[in-house]
Amino acid sequence: MTRRPLIAGNWKMNLTHVEAVELVRKLGAALPDAVHDVVEVAVLPAFPHLHPVRTVLATEQLRMVHGAQDLAPQDGGAYTGDVSGPMLAALGCRYVLVGHSERREHHHEDDALVNAKVHAALRHRLTPLVCVGEGLGVREQGRHVEHCRAQLDADLTAVTPAQVAASVIAYEPVWAIGTGRVATPDDAQQVCGALRERVAERCDAATAGAVRILYGGSVKADNVAELVARPDIDGALVGGASLDADEFSRLCAITAGRYRGSTDEHS
Ligand code: PGA
Repeated sequence: MTRRPLIAGNWKMNLTHVEAVELVRKLGAALPDAVHDVVEVAVLPAFPHLHPVRTVLATEQLRMVHGAQDLAPQDGGAYTGDVSGPMLAALGCRYVLVGHSERREHHHEDDALVNAKVHAALRHRLTPLVCVGEGLGVREQGRHVEHCRAQLDADLTAVTPAQVAASVIAYEPVWAIGTGRVATPDDAQQVCGALRERVAERCDAATAGAVRILYGGSVKADNVAELVARPDIDGALVGGASLDADEFSRLCAITAGRYRGSTDEHS
């Protein structure tokens, strides 16, 4: 089975809704069908921008999909400030980030909460994009593989093999996010490969072969080709570079070119 590559742009807490609409229009113009035929391109705007972005995607028939950056573990009720899975589903979201390191750090999200959010996403047919990754201290102690496997185990507690196969895992070393310090393709492949092995142990070989695993952390147009060339890296979660339409569309086009050249490495 060949896994369809995914490039997801995490816009974080950037842009006004007017700027978000402008960016999605520019991306629509810059991304040809030939790229969409190979790569799934997703944008993950802030909550207030989901509706306008969705409207532009639909009315201008652009082939990108959209998703959110977080969701509440509950489906509704007295949770001031939170946004639920049913709300995101009603806005046509396909994806939702869960467990991004910025949520873990600034909002003290632990693996139990991340796991509850994974289940909330799955309950509403949203694809969770589950983020794991080690900080610099863990990397320097050489415990990064063990750390990421443990996070994955905890975050996927009581998730069925079919649900895992339909989810996306993102390996994002915290020391590489927004720092310009990208992991080497070998570093990224080592952890992504170990995560896929872990899925095989927890579930089965078919699930491990189906689940998409992305790398994230300072991915740009000029380093994406080497990353997605690795057998267990099925695309990228892109922060800073996703806010620039030229850079992001180039990054998607380079990924499409790399896949057109060799699909069997990722099967
Ligand atoms: P970055 O962010 O590409 O700016 O490093 C990646 C992410 O946080 O998802």
